[in-house]
Amino acid sequence: MKTFRIRIDGQAAEVEADSETSLFAAMTRAGMAWPVSCRNGTCRTCLARLLQGQVRYEIPWPGLSAEEKLEGYCLPCVARPMADVVIAPA
Ligand code: FES
Repeated sequence: MKTFRIRIDGQAAEVEADSETSLFAAMTRAGMAWPVSCRNGTCRTCLARLLQGQVRYEIPWPGLSAEEKLEGYCLPCVARPMADVVIAPA
C-alpha cells in the first residue's frame, strides 16, 4: 500500500496517509485541525480546495458536483489520497 504526504497550505506540519485513509482521518491523527461534521461526504462542512495532488472517493459522487471536482474542490472527510496532497479552505 502506498503512503502519501498530506499538508494544509500555509502550515509546515504534514502527515502521512495511505491510500485507504481519508485526508481528514490522517489530519486528525496528527492533530491538524479542519472543520468537519457528517464525516460521510454529504454536508460539505469540510469542503476544501485541492491545491496539489489527486484524491479518490469510495462512493461515485459524494456531496460535490462534477463541476466542483473539475474546479479542484474536494471533501477531506471522504477523500483518499492518490498522490501527495496540499489542501486549503474553500
Ligand atoms: S464533514 Fe460533511 S462532507 Fe465532509
